[in-house]
Amino acid sequence: MTTHQIALGIDIGGSGIKGAPVDLVRGAMIGDRHKIETPQPSTPEAIGAVVAQIAQHFADVVPPDAPVGITVPGVVEQGVVRFVGNIDQAWTDFDGDTMFEELLGRSVHVINDADAAGVAESRYGAGRDRSGLVIMTTLGTGIGAALIHDGVLIPNAELGHLEIDGHNAESRAAASARKREGLTFQEWAEERLQRYYSVVENLFWPELFIVGGGISRKAEQFLPFLRLRTPIVPAALQNAAGIVGAAAVAADHAAGR
Ligand code: BGC
Repeated sequence: MTTHQIALGIDIGGSGIKGAPVDLVRGAMIGDRHKIETPQPSTPEAIGAVVAQIAQHFADVVPPDAPVGITVPGVVEQGVVRFVGNIDQAWTDFDGDTMFEELLGRSVHVINDADAAGVAESRYGAGRDRSGLVIMTTLGTGIGAALIHDGVLIPNAELGHLEIDGHNAESRAAASARKREGLTFQEWAEERLQRYYSVVENLFWPELFIVGGGISRKAEQFLPFLRLRTPIVPAALQNAAGIVGAAAVAADHAAGR
């Protein structure tokens, strides 16, 4: 059994595909991430070609046998994508692990993007050493969620799709909804996030909410408006959480953990 110290993390999103080598001891990216626009249509083949390009870009830094972790914005069971919201529907029931392993010639593991971010925050970031239930939410094009209980991930919690007030929650409370509807940060927080997080805390009674996604860099502009029972903090790894978590989970997977 090899214990890898470096793995490559790649985060597939609706608008961009980002990757970076990850130092698994520190839980941090090594250098800058490399970003390529998501091809349209965003089929597995088209995205596969971009992923291969990103792996090639880091060939000097990442050992050739280092595992690769890849996130997708959807439900993934044992490396097989079951449902996607914001990328091409050809991903439904697609065996991501097998395709990427053939393409990259090494151990690859595909997981949900928010789950990856949650694992990174729980091991290296804002959820470190926390017991009980921590809920990581990512606010971006959609809303991603990860449930972490006593440091253990309960995968594929699709809490962005809760039906709230007759709407799919992410269509009203994601960061994309704020932009689309031209809401200020305060309006978005008070009218949308307040309702969303209240429903989630009343269903799950978590001990901590962590907020990730690109918008978490601006957390001071919206978190202070929320009145919740549960403490709510920005992700410590900010937008790197998905990449770092994907790499960490891929290393576990390669080691048979
Ligand atoms: C998907 C989730 C994903 C989230 C963030 C949602 O639309 O259903 O699986 O984690 O978007 O990308």
